[in-house]
Amino acid sequence: MSTDKPSVKHFLQFKDLSREEFDYLFERTRWIKEQFKSYKRHWPLTDRTLIMIFEKASTRTRLSFEAGIQQLGGSAIYLNTRDSQLGRGEPVEDAAQVMSRMSDLIMIRTFEQEIVERLASNSRVPVINGLTNEYHPCQIMADIYTYIEQRGPIQGKTVAWIGDSNNVCNTWLQAAEVLDFNVHVSTPPGYEVEAARAGLYGTSHFMQFADPMAAAKNADIVTTDVWTSMGFEAENEERMRDFADWQVDTEMMRAARPEALFLHCLPAHRGEEVSAEVIDGPQSVVWDEAENRLHVQKALMEYLVLGRKNS
Ligand code: CP
Ligand code: NVA
Repeated sequence: MSTDKPSVKHFLQFKDLSREEFDYLFERTRWIKEQFKSYKRHWPLTDRTLIMIFEKASTRTRLSFEAGIQQLGGSAIYLNTRDSQLGRGEPVEDAAQVMSRMSDLIMIRTFEQEIVERLASNSRVPVINGLTNEYHPCQIMADIYTYIEQRGPIQGKTVAWIGDSNNVCNTWLQAAEVLDFNVHVSTPPGYEVEAARAGLYGTSHFMQFADPMAAAKNADIVTTDVWTSMGFEAENEERMRDFADWQVDTEMMRAARPEALFLHCLPAHRGEEVSAEVIDGPQSVVWDEAENRLHVQKALMEYLVLGRKNS
């Protein structure tokens, strides 16, 4: 039996695509969003099937991928660990072989990044990372698109990341390298970006701050995320104590540039990582950000399956 696999492009980490590819994708997103807003049919993925695997909970990721593939003319199949053989120990390599013979695209939300890497290396079709413990690349595509849409190019701008150095933070750090902007990270002691990772990102796009106000100073974007990510629930109580001074509030937004935007991948906990005043305030663009998951992922799915398109 031949083991040859056609060469396929995956999106497992932000750095899997180049700056030039993101430029294309953001421009394409703008066009796809315009078509959607004016009720124009755009069905490049007619009869194509997306398999979505969820090993963790989701609202936005599931909705945006399922709605997105339908709006492109295709359909989605939802699988979770409990109801599939993945939950009973079927190797991800075997699942990848089977799934990729029955579909055109796979999206997976899971625990270790290594799982998506193994899935992709055994898949004949593109694999998209819908969040792992390490990365959340589709989220940062939507976040950056939201910034571009509201304020223009992100090159040279400063993003202040306040809180946990988690999967979303890691992805901002990668994106800064690819797209040439700066990330100022402030975490409580003991939750810093690991030295090995910090070294990886270098010092040209990334600075760590003990004081969150110092990180927010003159930032163009202030962003944060839950103090306890999925899979880390056992640490919740300790984290509530450790992160208490890392809330994005009005005073912190005042340290940023007057035109700064507040972003949050959601779900949010008002009164923990962000005050209600900020997330529900005039600088917050979290609903546009959530909606843009739909539009950027439509551009991404089209690109991974069909390559570049002009209409
Ligand atoms: N931001 C995000 O990925 O949301 P969900 O967990 O609801 O998918
Ligand atoms: N860091 C969060 C993001 C949720 C979208 C988590 O992994 O739970």
